[in-house]
Amino acid sequence: MILYDHIDTNEKGHLTIGGMDTVELAKKHGTPLYVLDENVIRRQCRIYRDAATRYFGEGALPLYASKALCFTAIYKIAAEEGMGIDCVSGGELYTAKRAGFPAERIYFHGNNKTDKDISDAMDMGVGTFVVDNTDELSAVSAEAVRRGITQRILLRITPGIDPHTHRAIITGNVDSKFGNAIVTGQAMDIVKKAIAAEGVSLAGLHCHIGSQIFDIEPFADAAKIMTEFISQIKAECGYIIRELNLGGGLGVRYTEYDREVDYASAIRDIAAVVTSLCEKNGIQMPRVILEPGRSLVAASGITLYTVGGVKEIPGFKNYISVDGGMPDNPRYALYQSQYTALIANRATEPRDFRATLAGRCCESGDLLGEDMDIQRPCRGDTLAVLVTGAYNYSMASNYNRLPRPAVVMVRDGEDRVAVKRETYEDLVRNDVI
Ligand code: LLP
Repeated sequence: MILYDHIDTNEKGHLTIGGMDTVELAKKHGTPLYVLDENVIRRQCRIYRDAATRYFGEGALPLYASKALCFTAIYKIAAEEGMGIDCVSGGELYTAKRAGFPAERIYFHGNNKTDKDISDAMDMGVGTFVVDNTDELSAVSAEAVRRGITQRILLRITPGIDPHTHRAIITGNVDSKFGNAIVTGQAMDIVKKAIAAEGVSLAGLHCHIGSQIFDIEPFADAAKIMTEFISQIKAECGYIIRELNLGGGLGVRYTEYDREVDYASAIRDIAAVVTSLCEKNGIQMPRVILEPGRSLVAASGITLYTVGGVKEIPGFKNYISVDGGMPDNPRYALYQSQYTALIANRATEPRDFRATLAGRCCESGDLLGEDMDIQRPCRGDTLAVLVTGAYNYSMASNYNRLPRPAVVMVRDGEDRVAVKRETYEDLVRNDVI
């Protein structure tokens, strides 16, 4: 087992995922290749579903934050597992619709929904809009009135929490581009406007404090601020907030230095805090919504590459170049995210070679990691980067005109292509001559 139960080695010394030989998968489907273990995604959904209903009550619903990994088959899995989903764009909504995802279980997020997004989402019958700001509230209200419907909404609130994570993925602080801060009075202002607005029904509040968070404290702090705010709304407006969406953000183990997370226990602990805060503030326990992305899909995925050059610069460093890079995984370039890498066809050999993993793009910052301990490879070997299920494929680009890799899902000894590899033809499809 390497980091997770579903990652292991076989009698050939090859890396396996869900019991399948990664070297064979690379041969069959080509590289770079995203491989996902579907059972792991389903298991994570069940952990969230079971823990949410057990600790928060029957009405509780986990949403899959689909920005983490978005393609048609993933929405089918989320639907089959009884999840709701968080979509942030017309493109995500369109994909969910194509998968036949039940629209009433969709929460439509984003800090800048265009008029077209709003109208498309209403055409689809999206259950809940998470309204970010007063301009958006007016736009949603106007469109609902025009259609003669009442749109269920939550309001995005910024509780002002610093969860000690990377600056670019903090979202719940007062000066965030998202939502309405309580301390500035803007949150109460938009609540009053929403209560008074026509065409919308204010069901509740939403907050999301950040991502890759390992401690419960930031969630407890957010819950405290949000429940106090709910009680203030009751006192000032006589209005009962019935739903509280606490966002996503629980962390994931990327390397052996990261803690393992027991998600069910984390949800139990957050639920205990919310329950006691509701009692303390004299408010009814709201229906609680959770919104995990990373922790549902990250561990399920690995990326396979073919090694090109191995360059040793004496006295400086060693480079291993692979046939992908920042276009299929921009996370090291963006956040210096740490990963675990292995040579898949020598996975049982000692990781005694220290190297920087270089992508194939024409810029020095195109790295997948630096000073990584890995087996010494040769040209043609298969290199695996682990825990790439979240924010890799969904953030992939065609930089340097590189086609996006295929996504293959494995389950119970079978592999199936969930997203085809892009071709050069795909790259020029929208070019007008
Ligand atoms: N809900 C909202 C409103 C969010 O903005 C996010 C993530 C989530 C839920 C899910 O958070 P998670 O459970 O995945 O932490 N690209 C970055 C992560 C950005 C997260 C953006 N929002 C990365 O690669 O680390």
